[in-house]
Amino acid sequence: MTDQPLIVAIDGPAGAGKSTIAKLVAGFLGIPYLDTGALYRALALFLDARGIPPVESDALFSALQEASLEITEKEILLEGKNVGAEIRTPRIDAVVSAYASLPMVRNRLLDLQREQGKRNGLVADGRDMATVVFPDARVKIFLTASDEERARRRFLELRARKESTGYEDVLEQIRERDRTDSSRSTAPLRKADDAVELSTDGLSIGEVREKVLNLIREILDKENHYDAVQ
Ligand code: CDP
Repeated sequence: MTDQPLIVAIDGPAGAGKSTIAKLVAGFLGIPYLDTGALYRALALFLDARGIPPVESDALFSALQEASLEITEKEILLEGKNVGAEIRTPRIDAVVSAYASLPMVRNRLLDLQREQGKRNGLVADGRDMATVVFPDARVKIFLTASDEERARRRFLELRARKESTGYEDVLEQIRERDRTDSSRSTAPLRKADDAVELSTDGLSIGEVREKVLNLIREILDKENHYDAVQ
């Protein structure tokens, strides 16, 4: 069991701080970080640009086969191009969940995600890491925060990028995305039964990072203890 590569699965709603924490923790552990939201965003960008609506169809299926998506150490490449900036726009924020609710889209990404953890393990963040993609992950964390706190963080992030969306609109959009993500029938956003829930309300990034690292240490210590008594 313990010679399996370490998979840390972090799920939670938009703006809970998953990607910031996942990146820091991966850096600390010296294992890769996988931003699965970026994969869904890249496919949404590809499909939206081709005018393919978010419903299952032959056209969607063919487009998904055509799309070339590649994960490198530092970036996600769509058609060989780094699309880091293009996938984080209000347009993609608005359409990504509709595409992500489709089984065809999710299936397109399943093996690609699992492949990444095989050699060196990884820290992956998303909505269904612990429930669907890595159900055997050794560490499962469900990060949350209040709607208002998440909207505030996203609002500041957008303002820093000079996007002029008002706070109330950001709050409504985050709630709408949570509703779509939680109510879809395929791989909805939910806490896995064996995940540890951690609210980040009122905590600094450093404090959340420490809590997550402590949790990982505890789990690994327990495994070592378990091995020692076998
Ligand atoms: O960073 P933020 O929480 O805003 O979103 P993200 O992690 O970039 O994910 C964008 C969208 O992709 C989510 O709202 C979900 O609709 C979808 N997604 C998903 O369905 N499953 C995942 N594992 C990751 C993202």
